[in-house]
Amino acid sequence: MIIVENLIRIYKNSKVNSIALNDISFQVRSGEVFGILGPNGAGKTTLIKILSTMLLPTEGFVKLFETDISKYPEKIRPKINFVYGGEKGVYGRLTASEYIEYFSILYNVPSKEISSRKKMLLEKVGLQGAKEKKIHTFSKGMIERLHLARALINKPKIIFFDEPTVGLDPEGSRMLKKLIREIKEDGVTVILTTHHMQEADELCDRIAFINKGKIIDIDYPSQLKYKASQSIVRYDISIEIGKEELKEYIYEQYDVVKTEMLDGIMLLTVVLDKKDCIKKVKDNCLSMVYKELTLEDVYMTYLSDREENNR
Ligand SMILES: Nc1ncnc2c1ncn2[C@@H]1O[C@H](COP(=O)(O)OP(=O)(O)OP(=O)(O)O)[C@@H](O)[C@H]1O
Ligand SMILES: [Mg+2]
Repeated sequence: MIIVENLIRIYKNSKVNSIALNDISFQVRSGEVFGILGPNGAGKTTLIKILSTMLLPTEGFVKLFETDISKYPEKIRPKINFVYGGEKGVYGRLTASEYIEYFSILYNVPSKEISSRKKMLLEKVGLQGAKEKKIHTFSKGMIERLHLARALINKPKIIFFDEPTVGLDPEGSRMLKKLIREIKEDGVTVILTTHHMQEADELCDRIAFINKGKIIDIDYPSQLKYKASQSIVRYDISIEIGKEELKEYIYEQYDVVKTEMLDGIMLLTVVLDKKDCIKKVKDNCLSMVYKELTLEDVYMTYLSDREENNR
C-alpha cells in the first residue's frame, strides 16, 4: 500500500541545510495501523507531510497505491486524507455544519449525500450538539474533533494522523482511538505519529522508531518489547516507609518511573539494565515483582540520548 524508498529531505535555508530525513525506506501493508515514534525534531512531521503529498522529497520516492506520489499527486489526493494535530486552518466564521458541508463540496461528495454524511460524521466525533455553533467559539479539542470529521469526508483509503490527540481531553482521545479502530475495520490504512506511548501501543500494528531522520527499528509492539527485554527489566519494589537509605540507593542506582504510598509501604517501579546488580535491594526490600515492559521503556532504551537530540 505504501512504499518508501531511500527518502531524503533536506530543508535548505540561506545559512544551514537541515537534514530532516536521511535515507528512509519502509513499507506499510494495506489495512495496517502504522505508528511513527521518535523525539522532537526526529523527522516525523516531515515524513507525514511527504507521504500526504504536502511536501516534495529531496531524493528518493514514495509510492501509494503503486503510484509515485511526486509525479501524480492529483491521482493520490482523492484517496487519502490527514489530520495534523493542533492544526489551526479552520474558518472561524462558519458553523461546524457549514464547515463540513463546504469540504464535502470541495471533495465532490454528491449533493444528495452531503446531509446524511455530515450528520454521520458530526455524530462520530461527538459534535452533533454543537453543529450550529460558530467555529471561533469552539475549544481546542472541539476543533480537533472537527478536523477528524473533515478528514473522513472523502472516505479515504489511507489516513495520516500527526499527533492527533494534542488538545483532546481523555474522552476525546478515547473517541479518537475508537474511531481509528473503526476505520481500520473498514480496511483503511492508518499512519500515525504520537508522543503517547500507551496510545501507540494500544493502536498500532507496527511501529517505526525514528531519530535524527533515520529509522532505528520497525516491528510489532510485542516484538519491540521482547527485544528490549533482552537488556532491560521492570520491577515493582516495595519497601517499608522510613527505609530512607534504601530508597535513596534505589533512586541513585536505577531509573525510578513511578512511586506510590500504600499503607506504610512505598512502592517503587524501576527499570534497570539486566547487567545492573540488584542484590542489595533484593536483600532489603519487602518484595520485588517482575513486571512487563511498556512501550515507553522500549522507547527510552532506543531513544534516550536526549541531550544529544536537543543540541
Ligand atoms: N520548514 C522547515 N525549515 C527548516 N527546517 C525544518 C523545517 N521543518 C522542519 N525542520 C527541521 O527538520 C527536522 C525534523 O522536523 P520535524 O518537524 O519533521 O520533526 P518531528 O519529528 O515532527 O518533531 P516534533 O515531535 O517536535 O513534532 C528538525 O530538525 C526541524 O528543525
Ligand atoms: Mg512533528
